[in-house]
Amino acid sequence: MERTPVAIVGAGPAGLMLSHLLSRAGVDSVAIDLRTRAEIEATHRAGILEHVSVRLLVDEGVSDRVLREGDEHEGIALRFGGRSHRLDFRELAGSSVWLYPQTEVFVDLADARRRDGGDVRFGVRDVQVDVTGERPLLRFTDADGTPVHLTADLLVGADGSRSVCRHLVPEADRRRYTREYPFAWFGILCQAPRSHDELVYTRSERGFALISSRTETLQRMYFQCDPATDPHAWSDDRIWAELQARVAGEDSFTLREGPITERAVLPFRSFVQEPLHHGRLALAGDAGHTVPPTGAKGLNLALQDVRVLAEVVPDVLRRDDPSLLAHYSQRALQRVWRAQHFSYWMTSMLHNAPDGSPFDDRRALGELTGLTRSAAGSCYLAEGYTGWPS
Ligand code: PHB
Repeated sequence: MERTPVAIVGAGPAGLMLSHLLSRAGVDSVAIDLRTRAEIEATHRAGILEHVSVRLLVDEGVSDRVLREGDEHEGIALRFGGRSHRLDFRELAGSSVWLYPQTEVFVDLADARRRDGGDVRFGVRDVQVDVTGERPLLRFTDADGTPVHLTADLLVGADGSRSVCRHLVPEADRRRYTREYPFAWFGILCQAPRSHDELVYTRSERGFALISSRTETLQRMYFQCDPATDPHAWSDDRIWAELQARVAGEDSFTLREGPITERAVLPFRSFVQEPLHHGRLALAGDAGHTVPPTGAKGLNLALQDVRVLAEVVPDVLRRDDPSLLAHYSQRALQRVWRAQHFSYWMTSMLHNAPDGSPFDDRRALGELTGLTRSAAGSCYLAEGYTGWPS
């Protein structure tokens, strides 16, 4: 039998950042995860951090490695009609983003929790969550085989897009908002030099493509595909031909090719569960909402959720009043819906719906042309991409 003020299910970036921020506010927590630390480190996710996310990592004392090893990007290229159009974030929004993969954010957070003596348990088994009693109860088997009963004053579900915790909220007490998309992303990692010094978001008649990067010698690229695609049925040559065809244009832009070391088809969905709390349970990050990866908002939203949650939790505990979690839900959802719109908008503007008509295609090109030629339109994208103030 153990007790903790806050039990956190999920020790990815959202769970670990929450545990870190709570400890700075003098609140203890226990975070658990079914995955081992090595398994989480091997998961590839998006790589763009908004300015406010970078500030949170640095100012809250997690690590300043992002400033030393991350790459600051002051713009992106929008590519359509076979030409690139640069959006200058510094000029348009007075801001920038950092290319710093989610895995590195996780490593920094896990190291910081270890450094500060945080209670984080990776590789646990047989997790059972019970929120029907007076206090939330977690039962699990520790990595070393010890059975644990953990009672908490608050339970936080930070257990990702396949969250178990979100289903603990009775149907009558929640609403779910979902949008499915008729496409997915085929993502690759390849050993090659950079093809461009900033990210390239491309709309072509063959569909969307995104050229991103990891290091000088390792590149990340994606292209829109059918959700039923088997990534292993595609040869390297076929993947390169498809990517090259999507970015081709009158300026002869070509991708620098190399051996493909990883490939996966990534699901695509917009989802929100409201509210983000119920009784002594709060949901944070992908557990409460998921966005398609086009706007690179998922990790950034998760970090802002837990920033707000960590402000509210000390009050909830002091007054023993879980209804105060409503303040968290209301504040977090404002940003969530703004980001939902942004991600949906970027997605629909840059992808081809399989049942789309030639009219839809021309209309999207008209939208992109209007956007890149309008200072107001370009500013709107730059502000959304670099992130709104927290
Ligand atoms: C990535 O580098 O993995 C990445 C970047 C931007 C996105 C999505 C993914 O919008």
